[in-house]
Amino acid sequence: MRLGASQWRCFLRSTMSFVALSRSTFRHISSNARFFSTSLRARREYANVLVSRPSPGVALITLNRPKALNALNAAHFQDISDAMKEADEDVGVGAIILTGSERAFAAGADIKEMKDKSFAEAYTTNFLADWEVITKLKKPVIAAVSGYALGGGLELALQADILLAAPSAQLGQPEVNLGVIPGGGGTQRLALLIGKSRAMELVLTGRIIGADEAERWGIVRVVREGSVVDEAVKVASDIASKGRIAVGAGKEAVNAAFEMSLAEGLRFEKRLFHALFSTKDQKEGMAAFVEKRRAEWTHS
Ligand code: CAA
Repeated sequence: MRLGASQWRCFLRSTMSFVALSRSTFRHISSNARFFSTSLRARREYANVLVSRPSPGVALITLNRPKALNALNAAHFQDISDAMKEADEDVGVGAIILTGSERAFAAGADIKEMKDKSFAEAYTTNFLADWEVITKLKKPVIAAVSGYALGGGLELALQADILLAAPSAQLGQPEVNLGVIPGGGGTQRLALLIGKSRAMELVLTGRIIGADEAERWGIVRVVREGSVVDEAVKVASDIASKGRIAVGAGKEAVNAAFEMSLAEGLRFEKRLFHALFSTKDQKEGMAAFVEKRRAEWTHS
């Protein structure tokens, strides 16, 4: 992707404002006494997802439509989206885990709900456009996949920043068997992740692959000892124990690799790296190293 002059101006403006933001926003946030503990704000209850805090700074969102193998209908997706946004906005949360059941992470978009849709309805309502929700979150998202992750279920997992899978995981894009193609980003994200030939094979044959093959292809890391959710909590706790500004910047920089040319991505990374020298966490992190002690992050 090439940026025009006005887009570059916009990019540079937003990078410069990162410095100002990191000073003002995070100073404001860190003055909030609740910042270092789980937020006291009342959490919403959802009909189709369970929300818990298994460890300080970690939000666990569990898809909960087990009878339909977590097929994603509109109400289910709305709950996932709202719960993810709520966790993202919670100053007590440093990382978010998305998981399903032992049998299914999610078996795709709800076929029963969408089977009678017309082209006009799908087009005018921009069906599935809101599925990009995870990619818009500031906090890191870990998908912990057991069982089926098919169609929109795999596409949801592919939006996460880190993908962990149980040995039971079954991944695929079987939409071709329904007379359609993936509509939640699967063709694009898989092509970037595993290359054209493998993406074509999955999309054109609908073949379902197991955890080992998915790991060989670089889609997931398989958790062979213990539960995949426990491992996700460990990784999420580790991330949540770091300075939030550096974590947020690292996530933005890696994601830029999927949206920008190498030259643009390197420049973006460099600007973020430079901007981090305006944070207290950078001063603290480097001082702690020199003084041989643990850093005390203030996320400011
Ligand atoms: N939509 C709606 N309901 C679904 C569903 C889906 N995607 N997947 C499973 N279910 C329902 C089944 O209809 C069944 O419900 P009932 O008991 O009411 O009949 C229940 O979940 C259990 O499913 P099965 O009885 O089929 O269980 P199984 O163990 O025999 O098979 C499976 C499991 C292989 C996952 C099979 O259910 C299946 O093939 N599901 C569909 C997978 C699929 O095609 N996903 C892509 C959907 S399209 C999409 O996602 C588009 C996009 O890009 C966003």
